[in-house]
This record gives sequence, C-alpha cells and structure tokens, in this order.
Amino acid sequence: MKDLKKDFRFFDKGEIYLDSAATAQTPEAVINAMADFDRTERAPIYKGVYPSSEQATARYEQIRQQIADWFSVSPNGVIFTSGATEAINLVMHSWAMVNLKAGDEILISPIEHHANLVPWQVVAQKTGAILKFIDFDLNTRLLGLKESDFTSKTKLVCVTAESNVLGQVWQPGDLQKLIELAHSVGARVLIDAAQAAAHCRHNLTQLGADFFVVSAHKMMGPVGLGILCIKEDVYPEMEPYQYGGSMVSSVQLTNSQWQRPPQMFEAGSAFSTQVIGLGALLTYFKSIDRSALIQHEQNLIRSIIKIIDSIEGSEILGNRQYAENGGHLVSFIIDGVHPHDVASLLGMQGIAVRAGNHCAQPLHQLLGMNASLRVSVHCYTTQADVNAFGVALHEVVEQLREYSR
Ligand SMILES: Cc1ncc(COP(=O)(O)O)c(C=O)c1O
Repeated sequence: MKDLKKDFRFFDKGEIYLDSAATAQTPEAVINAMADFDRTERAPIYKGVYPSSEQATARYEQIRQQIADWFSVSPNGVIFTSGATEAINLVMHSWAMVNLKAGDEILISPIEHHANLVPWQVVAQKTGAILKFIDFDLNTRLLGLKESDFTSKTKLVCVTAESNVLGQVWQPGDLQKLIELAHSVGARVLIDAAQAAAHCRHNLTQLGADFFVVSAHKMMGPVGLGILCIKEDVYPEMEPYQYGGSMVSSVQLTNSQWQRPPQMFEAGSAFSTQVIGLGALLTYFKSIDRSALIQHEQNLIRSIIKIIDSIEGSEILGNRQYAENGGHLVSFIIDGVHPHDVASLLGMQGIAVRAGNHCAQPLHQLLGMNASLRVSVHCYTTQADVNAFGVALHEVVEQLREYSR
C-alpha cells in the first residue's frame, strides 16, 4: 500500500493520529474541492434559475446519485443530514414516533453508540413501546441472534454494523439473518453503519435494511454531513422531520403540502459545501486499492494487538480474532493505570489515542469498567506510527506504575 500521508496536510506537523474512529483526517483533494466551491461556485441549491445556482444544484444531485449507486438505493432515498446522529434522529421523529405505540417492541443491542440508543429510549418513554436487547456474549464479545427475539410485537430493530468500541460484533452472515428475521415479522430495520462504512469493507447495500446511516467525517469526508438511506417502500409510513423552506411543494397561510423524498426530509438550505466535499471524497476513494487497504489496516491492527499483549495486565475488549482479521480499531485497558492518564501522557508525546467510554457507557458498564483506551487506524496510518505508539505506550505505562508505587 503506498504511503498516503502526503495527501493529508494534517500530518505536516508530525502528529501520530490514532483516533480515526472518532473523526478521520481529510485529504487535500476534499478540502480543496470545498474551498474552490465556496470561492468560485457557491450558489443556492434548488433556488436560482441563473447558471451558478443551476450548476451547483446539478453537482449536488449528481453526488446524491453517486451515493445512491454506491449504496444501491434510489437517489430519492438518499437524505443528507448533519451526521449519523441526526440521521438516526430523523428516523426517530419521522418513522418511530409516527408508527410505534404502547406495547410495540424495539429490538436493539446493549453495545450501541449513544446515538443509536438514546433516541430509542426516548421513543419508548414517549410512546410506551418496549426496548428489548439482543444477547451480548461476554466470552466471545459478539452479539447473538435468537429467533425468539423476533415476534409479532417487534416493530423496529436498530443495531450497529460494527461497534465503535469492539469492532466486529457479528458473526459472518448474522446481520443479513437479522434483517431477514426482522422482515419476516414485519419489523423495520435501521443499521448504524457509521463505523462500518468508513472503511468500505462491508457490502451494506445487499443487506436490504430499511434505513442505514453513514457519517461522512469518519470516511475522511467533511464534518457536518451524514447520509441516511431509506428504502423506497418505507416513505408512505414517514412524516417530514423538519418543517420550513425547501421541503414544501406549496404553502398557504394556514396549510402546506410537502415535496416527495428526498426534499421532504431536507428542510432549509442544503449542505452544499459538505456534499461537494463528499463528491471529491468518492473520487479519492477510487484512487485507493481496496484490497491493499484492507491488508494494510489488518497488518497495522495485528501489530497494535501485539504491542498491547506485550504490556503486563492488559486486556483487549473486543473479539481478538475478528479484530486481527479485518479490524480498524482496538480498545483495551491496562491493569492499575487509568485510560485518561495514558491518553494524556501519549498526547504530550504527540500521539493521539482515545480514552473514555467512547459514547458507549452501557457497554462499558456491561464489561465492568468506566473507561477504556481505543486505538484506531485509517488508510494514512503507517507502521512507523504504530511502532512509535508501541515505544511510547511502554514508557508511559512504566512511568504511571512507577508513580503509584
Ligand atoms: C457507531 C457510531 N454511530 C454513530 C456515531 C455518530 O456519528 P456522527 O458523529 O456522524 O453523528 C458514531 C460516532 O462516533 C459512531 O461511532
């Protein structure tokens, strides 16, 4: 895999960045595309009948079409939001609050990012629907499917394709099976693909989920952009998410009519600059050899696991075998040292790793801890970065253990 670091100005300052699962760095090509658009092509989307507006609108829609092709959905079902969190909130307000009633069941997993847990807690509180949790196996660190979880009461299933703490949590084929089981009882399925889509490893499109959500900033795209893909047959069950300009077809003083999707779900001014950045990102992706990328990230993760294993009293949180064979992140704890202390000392050495509950507090409670460390890689991470992390981690842990003696 060729060294891609030169495509990212962020690395000019020499920081070793191992927190891409939180937000990935953005290549110059994406930043330039957005700056060029703002500098010379910025015009309202859908609003003007003059050339710059028409051109900006055509580009915007062309990118929507590219996303639709990539995820094999209709362009009408590609909704731009401010992030994965807003995409899930859109489904909450536009589908769940409209269709769920007391006694209905929402099946989720106990390991979700707060973005895919808190909205469903609120839906349950407001509608009287019941939250049911898929089994999480503390030995294998994988989610388990049980046919008996799916009944005529199951109306919505919301799960992550890949955990932002544990990495892979499904056995091969289980996500597909989950969607089939959900559909067999008439339930809708939302897949949180914020992590999974970022590395283009999963064929999310063939899964046939009713909703799936993606986060552009985790894919090396702009911050402030998410994508919600909706299957066409769900539209009639949905109401608008926000109300105002752009989502209406006509407005009278006391009443209004809505546009059809996608505009129905995109009230207000469009995410024009971010979507232009996303278009440039799709072009950048094409220049990356996907199988080389997967191999590269796999090698890095194997090295990281070796480093963690070489520290006495360390424990890896996710399924090690799955992480080694296709992961992009590893979370871990080290006996007797606090994750935040490790992360801040590494930070002082110019190495960025994540410490905390990673917006997955219930998962950490299940695992019997408050916080963990997380190291994550992307296409620009190098073996030299990982080696430097290894040396620094040993030093920092030794230093912290020395203090507490
Ligand atoms: C699994 C998962 N879901 C949802 C989100 C929220 O994404 P966004 O920042 O786009 O709202 C994250 C971000 O960390 C995540 O990892």
